[in-house]
Amino acid sequence: MAQPTVISLLLVALFAVPGVLAAAVFQPRDVATADSVDTTAESFYSSFWNDGTAKVKYNNGPNGQYTVNWSGNKGNFVAGKGWNPGGPRAVNYSGTFEPNGNAYLSIYGWTTSPLVEYYIVESYGTHKPCSSPTDDAEQKGNVTVDGSVYEIWTKMRKNKPSIQGTATFPQFWSIRTDKRVGGTVHTDEHFKAFTAGGLKMGRHSYMIVATEGQDSNGTASITVGVGPSTS
Ligand SMILES: *[C@@H]1O[C@H](CO)[C@@H](O)[C@H](O)[C@H]1NC(C)=O
Ligand SMILES: *[C@@H]1O[C@H](CO)[C@@H](O)[C@H](O)[C@H]1NC(C)=O
Ligand SMILES: *[C@@H]1O[C@H](CO)[C@@H](O)[C@H](O)[C@H]1NC(C)=O
Ligand SMILES: *[C@@H]1O[C@H](CO)[C@@H](O)[C@H](O)[C@H]1NC(C)=O
Repeated sequence: MAQPTVISLLLVALFAVPGVLAAAVFQPRDVATADSVDTTAESFYSSFWNDGTAKVKYNNGPNGQYTVNWSGNKGNFVAGKGWNPGGPRAVNYSGTFEPNGNAYLSIYGWTTSPLVEYYIVESYGTHKPCSSPTDDAEQKGNVTVDGSVYEIWTKMRKNKPSIQGTATFPQFWSIRTDKRVGGTVHTDEHFKAFTAGGLKMGRHSYMIVATEGQDSNGTASITVGVGPSTS
């Protein structure tokens, strides 16, 4: 999460040196950062956030693959692979998602200016997001795409962790009513539905096919970027 700051500082430092050394300016950009993987045809960005109390093992596999298992029924984590920056694209993924308790399988990402955390939820465990009164969520519409109706919801997060540190920001949700694990997600249709519902997105930060667990246990094995399996 501190990565953009580090890169900015690096660029400032490097632009300050003249001539020949300036040619080296863009080299650091080509070097894989600690939490990204460069692979064959396409490189995938990998992200793993843990609130510090979740007992979770994330395995960043080759290409678009990852596995995650978690236990202990406490804490919150978000793990997965995708792109940085994210944006409109057809996201293909396949795999398994087997939670006990509260968990989400989503195309998950952030924008800045404004700061927004968004979820395109493909499947979930015991809790349908935005469904309890304590969520204080508001429905803004529906969108039918990729074989299902998705419900568009929003809610506010006050003083919560974000890619810009602790902040207050909205979450946008597009929640598939006919749950699935595997398929193609046309993110642009969800982004359009957010906009149609008056939910304004900003500049895209990362976007991953994420497994999130909250006070639960389970396993997931996901491959991003390949056609859905037929099984
Ligand atoms: C994840 O699975 C491995 C292998 O079964 C196990 O050894 C480990 O304890 C598990 N970790 C968590 C956090 O559940
Ligand atoms: C996982 O959580 C469920 C309750 O949601 C519990 O019944 C089960 O024993 C837990 N399993 C493990 C391995 O922690
Ligand atoms: C979305 O669709 C549901 C039925 O699935 C309907 O009850 C609801 O009124 C719709 N909401 C909006 C805002 O269009
Ligand atoms: C996504 O899956 C479809 C159907 O299998 C395939 O036609 C398409 O090429 C895949 N796209 C990517 C980016 O893998």
